[in-house]
Amino acid sequence: MDKPLIQHGVEEACAAGVRDMIIVTGRGKYAIEDHFDVAYELEALLQKKGDGKQLATVQAITEMGDFFYVRQNMPLGLGHAVLRTMDLVGEEPFAVILSDDVIDSKVPVLRQMIDVYERYSADSVLAIQRVPREHVSRYGIIKGKKIAEGVYEVLDMVEKPKPAKAPSDLAIIGRYILSPAIFPALQATRPGAGGEIQLTDAIRTLVARERVIGYEFEGERYDAGNKLGFLMANITFALKDPELSPGLRDFLARERKR
Ligand code: G1P
Repeated sequence: MDKPLIQHGVEEACAAGVRDMIIVTGRGKYAIEDHFDVAYELEALLQKKGDGKQLATVQAITEMGDFFYVRQNMPLGLGHAVLRTMDLVGEEPFAVILSDDVIDSKVPVLRQMIDVYERYSADSVLAIQRVPREHVSRYGIIKGKKIAEGVYEVLDMVEKPKPAKAPSDLAIIGRYILSPAIFPALQATRPGAGGEIQLTDAIRTLVARERVIGYEFEGERYDAGNKLGFLMANITFALKDPELSPGLRDFLARERKR
């Protein structure tokens, strides 16, 4: 609504206690680096105008974490993007957030997942959600064994299956906690669905050796990668904003009567 999608992702990581933010970027996307950097000119201007509120908003963006950038020089898939971060991540578990999956929740989803990671002594945790059968081919789909309400031991998974071949209707949503074992797995992964190096294909090779948990998170998810989802996410957040909500409510009521 009033901030780029990627900032939602960074805010979620920050709220979950993550400090180091690695952003995988690409050619021409300089605006991302600038967005999270100190905005000297803008800050000086706001200071001069005495706009303390806006100044605090701008400064808070930079203070959310320590930012590192890695470029993905070719769009070879999500797995390929994650592999680019190997040297920066090192031998630690880490989280992956796909910012175009916007999730509106009371507790940040990544925080919920870290709790699950600790409670179940997991090596990796994947955010999952039930989706209509006709939509399974848009996602990574897990085959899981239920071990508690909303918690599954992941036995296998498949990227973008045809509905008839899907092992379940439990789809992976863009939040992952991964063990560093994912890096050698990614190095060994050949292009899969869509000719891309799929993160799903690499994770599935870990399930025999590591504990991979699928967790049905609490929250409403919007796919901001498509136009309708993007609009719905904007409206949801605008309706929570005390300044925008009355006008937007009136507008929506008027449109409904048409
Ligand atoms: C990616 C992943 C897929 C996952 C989805 C969640 O797909 O490859 O497994 O279900 O994100 O949004 P993409 O949306 O990049 O096609």
